[in-house]
Amino acid sequence: MNLILLGPPGAGKGTQARMLGEAHDLVQLSTGDMLRAAVDAGTKVGKQAKVTMEAGKLVSDDIVIGIISERIDEPDCSTGFILDGFPRTVAQAEALDELLVQKNKKLDVVFEIRVDDERLIKRITGRFTCANCGEGYHEEFRRPEQDGICDKCSGTEFSRRKDDNEETVRSRLTAYHTQTVPLIGYYGNSSRLKSVDGMLEIDSVFKQIEVALTEL
Ligand code: AP5
Ligand code: MG
Repeated sequence: MNLILLGPPGAGKGTQARMLGEAHDLVQLSTGDMLRAAVDAGTKVGKQAKVTMEAGKLVSDDIVIGIISERIDEPDCSTGFILDGFPRTVAQAEALDELLVQKNKKLDVVFEIRVDDERLIKRITGRFTCANCGEGYHEEFRRPEQDGICDKCSGTEFSRRKDDNEETVRSRLTAYHTQTVPLIGYYGNSSRLKSVDGMLEIDSVFKQIEVALTEL
């Protein structure tokens, strides 16, 4: 099964992708995580992407399409993947459709996670992540069971993203509304789109997706 999670910054794409990945043995493909890894490693792509990401703008289509095309070819993707944060422009969606045909794969469903803008700011500014395993947390909405210790790996180091400040989040939201929202029409027209209410708590959002998957 191959699926896309579409939604604004802070909608819960990464949170749901990790849960779905575990439940269905699917690989999470987050272009944001891949680009951050490239920035940390100081690669050519990372150097090109760094300033754009810190400004909350979208990295060029060519870069992200190239990254995804290579990643989908890796053996772990053969049983299925979850695209988290890709595609984000109509050009990326068109390129993905072409890539999937070339690679003899198909897209089963696109989930649009809907959340109001003001809630998103609160989600993003309160987010922190386990530096060891990448598990995501929130100061208010999803604290570790024991403060300072990751539930998944018992790690004790946590990190925050450079682009998780209110000013950059507003730019990311503008990019979402102008460049990514047209994808709702793109996928809606071909009946591949299902919308879920992302305002509910994490487990309830997960349940909505699970119910929709059983109906496929
Ligand atoms: P990316 O890393 O994809 O960031 P984003 O889209 O802005 O999304 P986030 O990761 O911030 O949010 P999320 O939806 O994953 O939410 P999460 O689950 O963490 O992209 C970063 C940058 O990379 C972009 O700005 C761009 O520059 C570049 N980029 C990436 N992909 C690109 C592409 N395809 N093309 C061009 N450029 C690209 O949840 C957020 C918080 O809320 C967490 O603390 C979580 O615990 C909490 N939470 C989650 N769900 C709930 C809930 N239901 N209730 C309460 N709290 C919740
Ligand atoms: Mg994310």
